[in-house]
Amino acid sequence: MTINMNTKPDIEGFFDEATNTISYIAKDPNSDHCAIIDSVMDIHYAAGRITTDHADILITRIKERGLILDWIIETHVHADHLSAAPYLQDQLGGKIGVGSKIMVVQETFGKVFNEGTEFQRDGSQFDALFEDGDTYDVGGMACFAISTPGHTPACMVHVMGDAAFVGDTLFMPDGGSARADFPGGDAGELYDSIQKVLALPDEMRLFMCHDYGPNGRAIAWETTVADQKAANIHVGGGSSREDFIAFRTERDAQLAVPKLIIPALQVNMRAGHVPTDKDGNPVLKVPVNGL
Ligand SMILES: [Fe+2]
Repeated sequence: MTINMNTKPDIEGFFDEATNTISYIAKDPNSDHCAIIDSVMDIHYAAGRITTDHADILITRIKERGLILDWIIETHVHADHLSAAPYLQDQLGGKIGVGSKIMVVQETFGKVFNEGTEFQRDGSQFDALFEDGDTYDVGGMACFAISTPGHTPACMVHVMGDAAFVGDTLFMPDGGSARADFPGGDAGELYDSIQKVLALPDEMRLFMCHDYGPNGRAIAWETTVADQKAANIHVGGGSSREDFIAFRTERDAQLAVPKLIIPALQVNMRAGHVPTDKDGNPVLKVPVNGL
């Protein structure tokens, strides 16, 4: 788990307007190997229709640049969009990795969706389960994962050279932080996890998973540790753990349920595979008053 600020991966962000998610291609500066972080599969939920337009943009880009995909990383089990990881893997190869606490998430939502015994709760749908501090390579670039629970139990920040993909621990400085009220979420844990990110080198580039363009500003997704420490509206300027918990708890009580939480959890807890009925047809459930 060594930080190497002299390794500067080439990073391209791809904004998904439907869900305000940013997917990334991160390329090792010294080879053609790359990783994808937090892909999106499109869903028109009202119509029950799933398409791959956003993922196809990533595939086209990787093919036109002649890159080799080593890893498909999920920073966490997203509740607001569906992952396209298996579709990307079919087209490009690569291993799908997530935090090992996925098992906690699978246990929780396996109950909510009344999944049968055929739904494994051991993370076996993924190719790799990361523990805090685990390392892996993208080409010759040494990368590592930091456990950052709080938004969800399985959240991890991934560090690649001078860049870190923060998932939903932080938003841009004027956006603050993500909610901590999902099952298994915890505002105090989120505060502690954010401190781990702020303890990274000041010049480290930070890449957000979401941006909502607060107060009408243009969508943005890149900042630095120094910027977050100085200006983050929720945790900048050394705000205390107690204040953060009080603020976060009050704010979360006012937030609406994410529009895609029901399809997103069912798909993402399966590493991006859509569940199927007994005949093998893709199908999603809506548990009534279950969430
Ligand atoms: Fe999230």
